[in-house]
Amino acid sequence: MNDMRLTERKVDAKELKIQARNVQVYYGETHAIKDVNVDILDNTVTAFIGPSGCGKSTFLRTLNRMNDTIDICRVKGEIMLDGEDIYDRRVDPVQLRAKVGMVFQKPNPFPKSIYDNVAYGPRIHGLARNKTDLDEIVERALRGAALWNEVKDRLHAPGTGLSGGQQQRLCIARAVATGPEVLLMDEPCSALDPIATSQVEELIDELREKFSVVIVTHSMQQAARVSQRTAFFHLGNLVEYGETGQIFTNPEDPRTESYITGRIG
Ligand SMILES: Nc1ncnc2c1ncn2[C@@H]1O[C@H](COP(=O)(O)OP(=O)(O)O)[C@@H](O)[C@H]1O
Ligand SMILES: [Mg+2]
Repeated sequence: MNDMRLTERKVDAKELKIQARNVQVYYGETHAIKDVNVDILDNTVTAFIGPSGCGKSTFLRTLNRMNDTIDICRVKGEIMLDGEDIYDRRVDPVQLRAKVGMVFQKPNPFPKSIYDNVAYGPRIHGLARNKTDLDEIVERALRGAALWNEVKDRLHAPGTGLSGGQQQRLCIARAVATGPEVLLMDEPCSALDPIATSQVEELIDELREKFSVVIVTHSMQQAARVSQRTAFFHLGNLVEYGETGQIFTNPEDPRTESYITGRIG
């Protein structure tokens, strides 16, 4: 099995946020994730890297039960968030996804105003008592996503009218607005130009002050720039997991080394 539990000694002052134990994912007969064990830290950016099709997105989606929405998908094992199993029958997946937010590859703002995009989650979860409250939540989320200054004068303009990079930050604001503890990002910069990419990368670095951030990226340079921990997946296995610097300079597994030196992938 791929046991990537960090030993007591290796865990620094950061708290454990998510523990995955013996996680298997199947799509029908396809065994997409094979017995993965991993500890994800709070206030840390964790990058998932590996060749296309190795299971990065599949494993990311186990962390907020997004795979529940795929009919043929089955998940086994345990994912503990602050010590509680998110697959327990008593857990409401909608509540869970407010706590473990997600940002996708392609910016996907709702066809609504900038304001309403951000207010959407707080409204359905009843997080604001009145309009002033909601205004505050929206402003805080937009500031948190480094977008406030660019949109404060046009909050009621459509979100889809923003540039690609602004739309992605709007989606981050939308995720942040429900007060999540974990942010999952699946290749959040792959549809963005280099300038928008570096803005989002800077933002990711700020987000880790408040959240545990898990990012899937096909760019090793990006993983090296934004993350403190890196997990390398290959053919559904979690091959190696550790400090980002260590993974990129001194990997232990030959498969990791082949990947980072460009021989596989
Ligand atoms: N919705 C799906 N239905 C069936 N198979 C899927 C689905 N999503 C992913 N897979 C399969 O699971 C494996 C892992 O895919 P994925 O998690 O998307 O990899 P990655 O994100 O690393 O590129 C691949 O073999 C892929 O074909
Ligand atoms: Mg993917």
